[in-house]
Amino acid sequence: MERKAMIAGNWKMNLNSKEAEELALALKKGLDVDLKHEVLLAPGFINLSIVKKIIGGLPILLAAQNMSWENKGAFTGEVSPIQLRDIGCTHVIIGHSERRHVFGETDVIVNKKIKAAIKNSLTPILCIGETLDERENQKTYRVLETQLKGAFEDLSEEQVSNIIVAYEPVWAIGTGKTATPDQAQDAHVFVRKELERLYGDDFAQSTRILYGGSVKVENIDQLMAQPDLDGALVGGESLKADKFLRVIHYQ
Ligand code: PGA
Repeated sequence: MERKAMIAGNWKMNLNSKEAEELALALKKGLDVDLKHEVLLAPGFINLSIVKKIIGGLPILLAAQNMSWENKGAFTGEVSPIQLRDIGCTHVIIGHSERRHVFGETDVIVNKKIKAAIKNSLTPILCIGETLDERENQKTYRVLETQLKGAFEDLSEEQVSNIIVAYEPVWAIGTGKTATPDQAQDAHVFVRKELERLYGDDFAQSTRILYGGSVKVENIDQLMAQPDLDGALVGGESLKADKFLRVIHYQ
């Protein structure tokens, strides 16, 4: 089964409005519009509209980095799925390791957010991954299994049919330490097996699994050569137009 690759840029809490505009314009200028795979940008909330105006009409998808599981109401400081849809988001990153480890998001919260995204026709990009301590103590597979099971709790195959999974080992995020292509491929094979266990072979074979964690110009080609890597979620390297364009146009 063919899986369309995706290169996603997670800008995290970086760039003011002018910088976001400049980066989006530079990406627009350098993008091969006949690209066979998908490109997605996840700017911070306040830059979503600015970026949307620039990429409208281009084959670039727009995602938020997080959202509330509630649609509206007295939830000070939160942003709702309805608001995200309204300004043109089609995707939302859920359960990023910084949400889990810095802001205490649990698998229960991740599950609520996935449900809210699906209910509002936003495609979730579900992030999972082990810490260094967990990897060194041979707990990687157990962690991935628990996070997947928790995220998909009470959801049918039909409901999650479009979901995207991102395997992001916590020890590789923002550290410059990338998983080797073999390590990444091993983890992706395991994740795909778990997806098969949860929803069957068709689902597992059609679901895209992105790799994230210090993806750079220097390693993107080797990573994308792995059969079970269906794309990349790129942080630091997505903030510089020339570098991110090279990552997008991987070989
Ligand atoms: P990084 O971040 O590329 O800067 O390691 C990836 C991510 O957190 O999605």
